[in-house]
Amino acid sequence: SEDQRIAKISSAIRVIPDFPKPGIMFQDITTLLLEPKAFKDTIDLFVERYKDKNISVVAGIEARGFIFGPPIALSIGAKFVPMRKPKKLPGEVISEEYSLEYGTDKMEMHVGAVQSGERALIIDDLIATGGTLCAAIRLLERVGVEVVECACVIELPELKGRDRLGDKPLFVLVSAV
Ligand code: PRP
Repeated sequence: SEDQRIAKISSAIRVIPDFPKPGIMFQDITTLLLEPKAFKDTIDLFVERYKDKNISVVAGIEARGFIFGPPIALSIGAKFVPMRKPKKLPGEVISEEYSLEYGTDKMEMHVGAVQSGERALIIDDLIATGGTLCAAIRLLERVGVEVVECACVIELPELKGRDRLGDKPLFVLVSAV
């Protein structure tokens, strides 16, 4: 069943205390990637949800959105667009700033990768405060793309990132408490 698949996915994610700094419980998806059945179930659950939604763009957020996004994009017949840290993309970019715990960061996307009127799904491994997904939504919407939904493997509900997305739907497989 779907619940059993999600339970296996959840137990394949390793939690590492105090990484990268004291007090942070790091949700490590690299152990999920070591279990082909659980990794495939992760992709399949997203594909089942998005295959008939007329999505032409899967936008994946650096770094771990680059692991989950491409197999989903291939299965639903959409293009894959990387949303990258600054100064990584070689072509003309548009960029969006977002705030971190200390200071700000930037996300960039190639101009011309997407066209106005396209329908996008945004993929990342995890939502914490939601700042990263918000920046991705703004980038795509600035160029006239409709963001249908954001999807993550893991949500940290205590940080209320979902609220920051406003009425933009968020779909997650696992809630980490
Ligand atoms: C993590 C995670 C998300 C983001 C979520 O990335 O993979 O992309 O943080 O945080 P937020 O909801 O509070 O914005 P990280 O900062 O570890 O960067 P990396 O993927 O390049 O390692």
